[in-house]
Amino acid sequence: METYFMSGRSSSPILRFRLLPPKLFLRSPQVLPLVLQDFSCNLQARSQEERSEARNRMFILGMGFVGQFFADQLKKDGWEVIGTCTSDAKMKKLEGMGFDVHLFDSNDPELRSLHTMESASHLLISIPSVAGLGDPVLHQHKDLLQSRLSHGNLQWLCYLSSTSVYGDSGGAWVDEDYPTNPTSESAKARVDAERGWLKLGHDLGISAQVFRLGGIYGPGRSALDTILRQESLSKGQKMREARRYTSRVHIADICQALKASINMPTFGRIYNIVDDDPAPRLEVFAFAQALIEKRCPTWMKQGPAHEVKNVPAKKKVTTEKKTIGGEKRVSNARLKDELGVRLLYPSYRSGLPSIMDYMEENSFPNFT
Ligand SMILES: NC(=O)c1ccc[n+]([C@@H]2O[C@H](COP(=O)([O-])OP(=O)(O)OC[C@H]3O[C@@H](n4cnc5c(N)ncnc54)[C@H](OP(=O)(O)O)[C@@H]3O)[C@@H](O)[C@H]2O)c1
Repeated sequence: METYFMSGRSSSPILRFRLLPPKLFLRSPQVLPLVLQDFSCNLQARSQEERSEARNRMFILGMGFVGQFFADQLKKDGWEVIGTCTSDAKMKKLEGMGFDVHLFDSNDPELRSLHTMESASHLLISIPSVAGLGDPVLHQHKDLLQSRLSHGNLQWLCYLSSTSVYGDSGGAWVDEDYPTNPTSESAKARVDAERGWLKLGHDLGISAQVFRLGGIYGPGRSALDTILRQESLSKGQKMREARRYTSRVHIADICQALKASINMPTFGRIYNIVDDDPAPRLEVFAFAQALIEKRCPTWMKQGPAHEVKNVPAKKKVTTEKKTIGGEKRVSNARLKDELGVRLLYPSYRSGLPSIMDYMEENSFPNFT
């Protein structure tokens, strides 16, 4: 993988040397051997410095679903990855999976993992915002982050946000230039968090971008998993069933977009990260259930309950239902045009079968 590096922040003496006018050397030939010796020492120091600076070192604040999946891909690409989580139990689990993990809870007044963050070349922020507070990390640690990271090795950051910032467009298409109009407290906190991280990037003079994600799905988190595990729907999920449009994105496409952004960094650009098909939730669940019944009907019988309560599979999905607000279709044109991403899963119609393949390969479900 090719990676973009900014040279502007280097404090290397050799870079400063390059700025000296050549006349300076010619006027004093007796100092030339000394300068050359110094130059060679500096070259060695510089190449050592470059070797350590040039390491692709990603720091992931919040090793949740996206964080883990992306960390795994980066490791395979030869990156050094450091991540955080909030509990000892999760840290042990992640360490068992081969990740370098630090405990970090934004409510903790100490930012103990910061010394490791300073050495990172890239930073992914995958911690949700908090209603009424904004971004919990910036809320508690902004000044400390700013002062410590300004002496660090950071070149790129990306904040993972949500398409909820657009509020309700009545179902019209929205792109990144559409004014944000958050209606819920949590969406308002997202907008604050976006601004905060972009400002930090600007103040540090590094590349900073915001990714507005649709509903994330992938292996281990999908309509298939919900049906097979008989997970009950949250109140919010039940309410969202009434929506005509729901943006979603497969985790593999989020990772593609992140890698594209690392290779094509920007200063303050925002990208919608969604697929091409903002289909209603009921339609997706009906498709998922039909897929299970067709390919692995016995799995339903192995589950904790035989009857599927959550999924109105036979119910005809209608677009005339009373809606609950937050209706919008989110455009991914910029993701494709500027980052050059070709979606692996442009619709749940290709994304869910790929997860089914994964489940079959991994002998899912294992309910014992
Ligand atoms: N899920 C979706 O459909 C969706 C849609 C749009 C946007 N997003 C946003 O995209 C981002 C990534 O999503 P995801 O699904 O990967 O999230 P996730 O699985 O919920 O992971 C969130 C991570 O943040 C950590 N975290 C939470 N609160 C924290 C705090 N106060 N201090 C420190 N760490 C904290 C969690 O720690 P532990 O690992 O210890 O739990 C976890 O590692 C999140 O901001 C999410 O809200 C999600």
